[in-house]
Amino acid sequence: MGLVSAAAYETVETDVLVMGAGGAGLRGAIAAAEAGARVLIVCKSLLGKAHTVMAEGGVAAAMHNVAYQDSWEVHFADTMKGGKLINNWHMAELHAKESPERVLELERWGAVFDRTWQGRIHQRPFGAHTYPRLAHIGDRTGLELIRTLQDRVVHTTGVEVHMEVTVFALLKSEGRVGGALAYRRADGSLVLYRFGALLLATGGAGKMYRVTSNSWESTGDGTALAYEAGAQLRDMEMVQFHPTGMVWPVGVRGLLVTEGVRGEGGLLRNKDGQRFMERYDPDRMELSSRDVVARAINSEVEAGRGTPHGGAYLDITHRSPEFIKRKLPSMYEQFLKLAKVDITKQPMEVAPTIHYQMGGVRVDAETAASSVAGLYAAGEVASGLHGGNRLGGNSLSDLLVFGKRAGDAAAASAKKNPKAAAAGIDPAEIEHAIATLMAPLDRPEGENPYRLMAEIQDVMTEHAPIVRDEAGLAAGLEKLDGLRARAEVCGTGGGQSLAFNPGWHTAHDLRSLLVNAEALLRSALVRKESRGAHARSDFPKTDDQLASVNFVVEKTAGGMQVRPEPRPPMPEYLADAVQRSYALYTPEEME
Ligand code: FUM
Repeated sequence: MGLVSAAAYETVETDVLVMGAGGAGLRGAIAAAEAGARVLIVCKSLLGKAHTVMAEGGVAAAMHNVAYQDSWEVHFADTMKGGKLINNWHMAELHAKESPERVLELERWGAVFDRTWQGRIHQRPFGAHTYPRLAHIGDRTGLELIRTLQDRVVHTTGVEVHMEVTVFALLKSEGRVGGALAYRRADGSLVLYRFGALLLATGGAGKMYRVTSNSWESTGDGTALAYEAGAQLRDMEMVQFHPTGMVWPVGVRGLLVTEGVRGEGGLLRNKDGQRFMERYDPDRMELSSRDVVARAINSEVEAGRGTPHGGAYLDITHRSPEFIKRKLPSMYEQFLKLAKVDITKQPMEVAPTIHYQMGGVRVDAETAASSVAGLYAAGEVASGLHGGNRLGGNSLSDLLVFGKRAGDAAAASAKKNPKAAAAGIDPAEIEHAIATLMAPLDRPEGENPYRLMAEIQDVMTEHAPIVRDEAGLAAGLEKLDGLRARAEVCGTGGGQSLAFNPGWHTAHDLRSLLVNAEALLRSALVRKESRGAHARSDFPKTDDQLASVNFVVEKTAGGMQVRPEPRPPMPEYLADAVQRSYALYTPEEME
């Protein structure tokens, strides 16, 4: 109680608060500031460190620099077909049309792309993209994108950044979000941000799984905060296993091995040396979509044809060492330093790793507005563009296109509601949120939050794996109920200090993870079919009826509810684009 009653907070005001400093947050902040808003970015980690850097292989945009036949229509059709047609088609249309301009803008801002021999931005092939479409900087595209946007942010008037700050509650007044309570990780001091509009750009929740390419920040905070504030979530059953993560040594299990390796010709083999993709997608082979390749590796392992550490071999040794070091410099260094494997001479050992959440906050296609006034979301925390499965490279173009749109809309909204920031937020709500945050500090000997986090990861790994079933999902939900009850009374695992107290921080993260995990399990239970990343062994086929449905998650008085929402049909010109794209494949591929 002592700590709770002592808690005071500083108040900071801005027009647009941006939560998260990955690509979507930075692009949104630039847009909002250019529209004349005062912008404040808060990030959990340090500026420049975000999951965006894990999109290594490129940014997808139909610039037709390498394949002159490419067009926005084909990119649109690939995205829809990759997402198994449950994508928000208007988002997919805007994305395909606008991503070339967003990439060129990035180039104008200083991004140093690889070049074709004519001097254009080079584009490499990637899984399920009909044409070579990924503009890239070796295998460090996400890093260069962040570096470029960060440089632009620090040179943009009106943007301020608060690093190592975690938002733990959103506050509303008259139905509009206008406040965010946060703590500074360095000393535990509290801040109340008051704003005209909030842009969530917090990324995904990969940390709900044991093996993931995501780092510690990815606990699904934005999704959980939006849900608690009354926003709708959508497609939460759809999480992406990237087919290729490192499997060995154990300490780096899950670390991403870019799809760029396969884009540059890398071959997948099982322990018997067979190119097993022949069995799963003989036309596209290693460049099939991620859901198919991840399931193929899983099936090979289950059939006893896996590698010694439970994966597959990824081999690029047929390319020259100079080519590999030029096109895949990070992969070369990563394997040499971490696994003592020289990828110019030896194959890599890889296995699926949780990489991306297709589901997230339900947003309006044009403005990125959520169902709560004043609340916007862009990038991985938002849903719609990718539907049932995301194509590689579409995340970087997503966050550029919709980061900008969200920033523009948030700035306009803040302008229209200048007094929203100061409006009547209930002080009792503030007290309650602070008390909940501080409570674990009053229970230093309480259950260790790290143990609970590990148990959540175990539940999701066991009960929501690549191939799911009803009994497993239901048992996972039951276990989650027990974990929720224990998390509500957990302690800090020892320390009572407010300064950089990881136990205390993790106690808060558990709340976000639990919302994301519950939404995933509940949505996966009701989608009684297999589609994209959601594979059910008890419903192995795609159900055509469910192509016209998204599952929406909402907070109600009775707890979390999931309901089907009918999707509006595609307009004729978009349906035609999808139909025409089938003619670009052989008849076998259309099967
Ligand atoms: O494999 C990769 O380079 C990842 C790209 C992405 O997730 O878009």
